[in-house]
Amino acid sequence: MILSGRHSQSIAAELAERLDEPLAPVAFDRFPDGELMASIGDVTPADGERAIVVASTPSSDAHIELLQLQDAAHEAGFGEVITVVPYLGYARQDQAFEQGEPVSVRAVARAISTGADRVLTIDPHEEDVCDFFDPPATPISAAARLAEPLPDDLTDPLFLSPDAGAIDLAETVQEAAGTGTVDYFEKKRHSGSEVEISPSDTSVDGRDVVVIDDIIATGSTMSEALSILQERGANRVFVTCIHPLLAGNAVTKLSRAGVDAVYGTDTIERPCSAVSAAPVVVDALADQF
Ligand code: R5P
Repeated sequence: MILSGRHSQSIAAELAERLDEPLAPVAFDRFPDGELMASIGDVTPADGERAIVVASTPSSDAHIELLQLQDAAHEAGFGEVITVVPYLGYARQDQAFEQGEPVSVRAVARAISTGADRVLTIDPHEEDVCDFFDPPATPISAAARLAEPLPDDLTDPLFLSPDAGAIDLAETVQEAAGTGTVDYFEKKRHSGSEVEISPSDTSVDGRDVVVIDDIIATGSTMSEALSILQERGANRVFVTCIHPLLAGNAVTKLSRAGVDAVYGTDTIERPCSAVSAAPVVVDALADQF
C-alpha cells in the first residue's frame, strides 16, 4: 500500500498505478495550537504487507508528516515500511560549514531512520547523505528523464551545468537526448540568494542551451547563468532540474532573465513538473525488493 505525503500526491498516485498497489486514504490536519496530524485512515494490512511511504520534505512540516506516516504505518501493523523521499529537504546542509552549525541532513536522516526499514531518495544533493541513515538507504537518479520534455528540434544544443557539481547531471541529460555537447560554468556562492557565475569559453552564439541543475531554489544560480547566456547570444535557453523547489520569486527571476521554458520532475509538485520520477522508483523497488 502506498502512503502519500502532502507534497507527493502526484508521484504517489503514479507509483500506485505502476505498482498496482492501493493508495491509503491519508488525511492532513492541523490542531489549533499549530501541531500537525498526518493520518492514514482505516486500513487493514494483509499479513506481512509492506507500506511504501512516499513523502518529499520541502518544508519542516513535511518532515514531521513523514515521521507521522511512518509511525501510523507501524501502528496499523504493516510488516515493513519502505520510505521513498523524492525530494530530501535539508540535504544541502550536509556538513557544519561554520563553527556551531548542525549537520541538518544527518539530524533528519536519523529521525527518518527510526521508522523506516529501507529508504530511497531521488538525486540528493550529495549521494553521501544516504550514509546518515541507519537502515539501507539508496540514492536513485531521475536525470535521464529530464531529456523527455525538451523540444526535438534543438539547434546545435549545449547541455550546461551552472556549476561543476552538476556536470554529471548535464552529461546524463545529453546522453539521453542523444545530441549536443556538454560544458559547465563555475559558481561562487556569496549568500543564500547571491551567486557569482564565471562562464567557460565555449561559444553559445546561435545555439540552443539546456541548463541543468539538481535543484532550483531561489533561482539565483539559474538566472545568473541565463543572463550570461543571453549576453553571449544564445538562441533558446531551457532550464531543467530534478527538484523544482522554486521558492519565493524564483519563477519571476527566471522569466525576467529570458528563459524559454522551465522543466522539472514531480519530486516537488509545481506547474513545471513535466516529468514523473515514478518510473525510476519502480525500477529501484524491482531491483532491490
Ligand atoms: C547547489 O550547489 C545546488 O546544486 C543548486 O545550484 C542550488 O541549490 C540552487 O539554488 P538557487 O536556486 O537558490 O541558486
